[in-house]
Amino acid sequence: MEKKVILIVEDDPNVGESLLLLFKKKGYEMHLASNGKEALDLFRQEIVDIVITDMVMPKMDGIELLEAVKALRPETEVIVISAQGTIEKAVQAMKLGAFDFIEKPINPKVISLLVERALEKQTLVLQNRDLRSKLEDKFHLKNIIGRSEKMVKIFELIRHIAPYDSSVLIIGESGTGKELIANAIHYKSPRASMPFIKVSCASLSEGIIESELFGHERGAFTGAIASRKGRFEMAHQGTLFLDEVEDIPLTTQIKLLRVLQEGEFERVGGNKTIKVNIRIIAASNRDLQEAARGGVFREDLYYRLNVVNIKLPALRDRKEDIPFLVNFFIEKFNQKYQMKVRGVSQRAMNILMNYLWSGNVRELENTIESALVVNSPEVLDIQHLPQEIRDFKERPEVIPFRIGTPLEEVEREMLIQTLKATKGNKRRAARLLGINVRTIHRKIEEIRELPSIS
Ligand SMILES: Nc1ncnc2c1ncn2[C@@H]1O[C@H](COP(=O)(O)OP(=O)(O)OP(=O)(O)O)[C@@H](O)[C@H]1O
Ligand SMILES: [Mg+2]
Repeated sequence: MEKKVILIVEDDPNVGESLLLLFKKKGYEMHLASNGKEALDLFRQEIVDIVITDMVMPKMDGIELLEAVKALRPETEVIVISAQGTIEKAVQAMKLGAFDFIEKPINPKVISLLVERALEKQTLVLQNRDLRSKLEDKFHLKNIIGRSEKMVKIFELIRHIAPYDSSVLIIGESGTGKELIANAIHYKSPRASMPFIKVSCASLSEGIIESELFGHERGAFTGAIASRKGRFEMAHQGTLFLDEVEDIPLTTQIKLLRVLQEGEFERVGGNKTIKVNIRIIAASNRDLQEAARGGVFREDLYYRLNVVNIKLPALRDRKEDIPFLVNFFIEKFNQKYQMKVRGVSQRAMNILMNYLWSGNVRELENTIESALVVNSPEVLDIQHLPQEIRDFKERPEVIPFRIGTPLEEVEREMLIQTLKATKGNKRRAARLLGINVRTIHRKIEEIRELPSIS
C-alpha cells in the first residue's frame, strides 16, 4: 500500500520535529512547515492526506490554512493543535470542518489515534464518492447509445463540462436526443440531487410564458387568483432546461438575459427581487446563430447561452450507431412488454441502416416499438417493417452533379429527388434539407413556375 502523507504545521521547532519523528517511525511520509503560508505552498504542490496544524502562527494562522485546505481538497482531514488560551479558536476550527483538535502538551498516543481515525474516515468518504460516481455513470450515460466517433466525442465533452455551472446550448434536429443529453449533464453535475426543471418554450403562448418562467403575484392579471412560483424559482440550486428556446418571444428574451447575467428577476406583478442560483441548459433544433443574425433571437442572449455548444449529429450522419440503437431498443421493449425477441435479421438491419431517418432516433425507436408490438416476432425481419421503410432501399441516395452545375439547378434537382424519397411528404423533406416547411412550400411554388418543369 502507498504511504499516507502527513503535513505538520508548527512554528515551534521542538514540537514540529518530535511530531515528524513520531510519524516517520510509524511509516508515514512527512512534510514540515513552520507557518500557514509555507504549508499552503507545500499543499498545492504535494499530495497530502492529513494536515496537523498549530493555531497561532506568523503569516497565516491555523484557521486560514484550514479554510484554504478545505477549499482546495475537501477530503483532506485537518487536526488542529490548540495551546492554552486558543480553545475558542479550536471550536471555531471544528465548525469549519476540522476533524478534531488536540491540546498541548501533545500526547503521542492520542495524536496517533486521531490520525488513524482521520484516515479511516477519509477512506470511507472517498469510497463513497467513488461508488456514487459509478452509479451515476450506470444510470445516466449508459442509456445514451453511441459508438460513432461523433457521439463518443460528445460523451467526453459532457463528462468534462458537467461539473461546471456554465450554460450549455444543445443544437440538434428533432429526435436526436437533446433532452436525453440535457438530463445526463444535470445528473453528472454537483446539482444532481437538486431539481431538473424543463420548460417547453414552444408550447407556451406569448401571454403566459413570463408567468410560467418567473411566476406571478396574486392579482397580477385576470385569473391570477393566487401567487405562484415560476420555473426559475422551482429550479433554484438545480438546472433549468429551456427546450425549443428559439421560440421565446423577443420581449421575454430581454428578461431572460437579465436572469442569466444577474441571477435575479421579479415575479409578474411583483416588485420583490428574487435571487436564484441556476444552471441553464438550452436546446434548439435550429441554428440559433443564424436566428440571431436574422434578428429573431437576441445576439447577446445567444452568446450567454452558448458558453458550451453541443451539436448533436443527425442519425443519417452516424449510421454506424444504428445497429447498437436497434439492439438497445429491442432489449428495452423486450423488458417493457415482457417479450423475447431474439434480435434482428441482417437483411432487416441493412434496410434500417440505409433508411433516411428524418425523425432521427425517436423515429427509429418508434419503428422498432411498433414492429415488435404489432408482430411479436421471434427475430425482427423485413416483413415486420413498415412499407415505406422497406421500399426505401431502391432509391438512389446520391445524385451526381458535374462541377459547375448552376446552383439553381442543383437546388431544383435536390428538392425533387428528396420529395420523391419522402413520397411527397413535405415536412419530412424540409427536415432532411434543413429548411422549414414554409420555405419548402415556397421553393416548390418557384419550381412550378419554371417553364422547364411540368
Ligand atoms: N443516443 C441515444 N440512445 C438511446 N436513446 C436515444 C438516443 N438519442 C435519443 N434517444 C431516444 O429518442 C427519443 C428522442 O430523444 P429526445 O427527446 O432526447 O430528443 P430531442 O432532440 O429532445 O427531440 P425534440 O427536438 O423532438 O424534442 C427518446 O425516447 C430518447 O430516449
Ligand atoms: Mg426534446
